[in-house]
Amino acid sequence: MTVAGNWKMYDGPDSHALRAALGDLPHVVAPPYTRLRECVDAGLTTYAQNVHWADEGAFTGEIAPPMLLALGVEGAIVGHSERRQYFGETDEGVARRTAAALAAGLNVIACVGETEEQREAGETEDVLRRQVAVLERHERLVVAYEPVWAIGTGKTATPEIAQEAHAFVKSLLDVPVLYGGSVKPDNAAELLAQPDVDGALVGGASLDIDGFVTICRIGSSR
Ligand code: PGA
Repeated sequence: MTVAGNWKMYDGPDSHALRAALGDLPHVVAPPYTRLRECVDAGLTTYAQNVHWADEGAFTGEIAPPMLLALGVEGAIVGHSERRQYFGETDEGVARRTAAALAAGLNVIACVGETEEQREAGETEDVLRRQVAVLERHERLVVAYEPVWAIGTGKTATPEIAQEAHAFVKSLLDVPVLYGGSVKPDNAAELLAQPDVDGALVGGASLDIDGFVTICRIGSSR
């Protein structure tokens, strides 16, 4: 079971203290680009928060798969809702980033999820179908179901809502599905107990060493 911490544009915790606190617990951390090398050197399983599809080129502000691999980075998050909402990333772009990263040898966490308006309008399944349709099964691909209304809001999906969405995503694409959206040490156990919840993508709570280690421990005991 994968528990991944997305530090977003926060500097994040001390890498050596985190490494020591995690011990043998499986984990992934996705720090800002400026701390990737340090996290790799500290022995953390390290992913980037995005990756471009080209090996190199005139793409200001982007990072290529070979550049991440050269640092010892093992994977990347792709299509996070903040990328889609604030930086105009599309399903097609997410598909290209995902395919290129997988082809290069990176692991990928591809994010999907509906907004509050879409859920209220009864469009959740249509949105998920559209977002998942551009992805192809791969042994190094996992999907993260992150309802946008639950990200950073403290509003977690109930375990039932998460289970239903995860089962739906898996009916479309046979890959592990992580849950993301206000996962905390005190709600992780009931979310991760759902049969189709295969891990967690943790934002805010991953910035706290004790909280993140607690969630990783819950994940590893499942
Ligand atoms: P959150 O973020 O845990 O702070 O809600 C989750 C995410 O965006 O991956």
